[in-house]
Amino acid sequence: MLPPKPPARPDKVSLFRYLRLFRQDLLSAQPKRLYRAWMAEFRTPFFRSFLVNQPDLVETVLKTRPDDFPKSGRISEGLRPLLGNSVFLTNGETWKRQRRIIDPSFEGGRLRDTFPAMWEAAQACVTRLQGQVGQEVEFEEVTSHAAADVIFRTLFSIPIEHEIAGQVFTRFRDYQRQQPLLNLAAFVPLPSWMPRFHARQTKRAAKEIRGLIAQLTSTRMAEIEAGTAPDDLATKIMTTKDPQTGERFDTEEMIDQVAIFFLAGHETSASALAWTLYLMALYPEWQDRLAEEANALDQEGFGVMSKLRLSRDVFREALRLYPPVPMMVREASCPEKFRDRAVPKGAQIVLSPWHLHRQERLWDNPDGFDPARWHTENGKTCQRTAYIPFSTGPRVCPGAGFAMVEGPLILSMILRRFRIERVAGKDPVPVAHLTVRAADGIWLRLVER
Ligand code: HEM
Repeated sequence: MLPPKPPARPDKVSLFRYLRLFRQDLLSAQPKRLYRAWMAEFRTPFFRSFLVNQPDLVETVLKTRPDDFPKSGRISEGLRPLLGNSVFLTNGETWKRQRRIIDPSFEGGRLRDTFPAMWEAAQACVTRLQGQVGQEVEFEEVTSHAAADVIFRTLFSIPIEHEIAGQVFTRFRDYQRQQPLLNLAAFVPLPSWMPRFHARQTKRAAKEIRGLIAQLTSTRMAEIEAGTAPDDLATKIMTTKDPQTGERFDTEEMIDQVAIFFLAGHETSASALAWTLYLMALYPEWQDRLAEEANALDQEGFGVMSKLRLSRDVFREALRLYPPVPMMVREASCPEKFRDRAVPKGAQIVLSPWHLHRQERLWDNPDGFDPARWHTENGKTCQRTAYIPFSTGPRVCPGAGFAMVEGPLILSMILRRFRIERVAGKDPVPVAHLTVRAADGIWLRLVER
């Protein structure tokens, strides 16, 4: 049985229908032929966009000439009230300076330092699940909670039960529910004559969330000055100086960065973990293998990660089939020629991990679940050239290494303790909102192992 894939739309639809489909769900708005195409052009009266699904073109845009393909300002506007000038939205010199300050905090050595906090979050997740044995459990909720806990513990040394952490978590969730346009606004730039508005409610929610984060960062700043700050990611980021200018983040800019760490770091990991768990229910033979491997967790400490090999292969395969960030958009800042077609200045360039990871002309068994593929020739080649769950090039996700520890660790911790089973009639259907989610949640039965 193949893992669930959203239905594709018919090849030709009207613009109106296309925009409506887009609004509902990014994935089923796309025609089937995109899984075989190297490139596709969408022309509408408002914008032209090119989806590139060919490794060397993806490389040109993300890796070789990223400065010529900046993030489009029009596309990020839906996120601006919440994320301000965060590294996710900036371009050019501002973005480069921000990455120079952020990147050292995510280097290999720091991962080892954050590991104990991740471990505690994983154990807390297992403890919470203990109360739900024998029940049908909605796992997107479970993994969101766990991933948010990981972020707060690693960033600020506080668990999700901390009053402000808990409030940030619930307010973010409400914010996303109130922002139904996020889906559309993120990928279809509005024509420039259309009036912009962010609903008053949304703006107020963003302000409240930022107010809560400001409390965390200002308390931390005081602790840093008093010499009593814990040695966690927030302290590291707030004390790192840009090697070129000697500047640090000011308070406002740090709020922007915390907001994006929280959003980018918990939504994505939560989505990936929930889909991985569903896949484990769908393929119980893999689940049993992971449960056995998870006995290695009797040993504590970072060293255990090198023993969770199957868990990593499975998590990597889940990221291929259900990349949490299904599409990314850039803008051509000068006229280009792609595959002998003229790409005008200002055109939107869409990079779709979703389609590249299932590109039928590149991958063996593109829609199948096969964690062993990473050890085959085809799998190795595709991993290098057609696998971008964390993007690639200088704008690659700074949390990639972090996520590849967090995901397999929590997965293995859960499977060591419990068995999970499909619930009849409740198999999830993928849809893309901010991240790839299931239309009605991911329901699984939790059983004692
Ligand atoms: C499975 C988990 C994750 C996935 C699949 C993922 C994926 C991505 C992708 C695809 C991008 C590029 C987006 C674009 O260029 O439009 C990105 C950017 C980013 N991610 Fe992640 N991410 C994950 C976890 C994390 C974590 C744990 C953190 C932080 C703790 C994080 C922080 C960021 C930040 C700050 C950016 C913006 C980087 C920039 O634009 O320079 N991510 N992520």
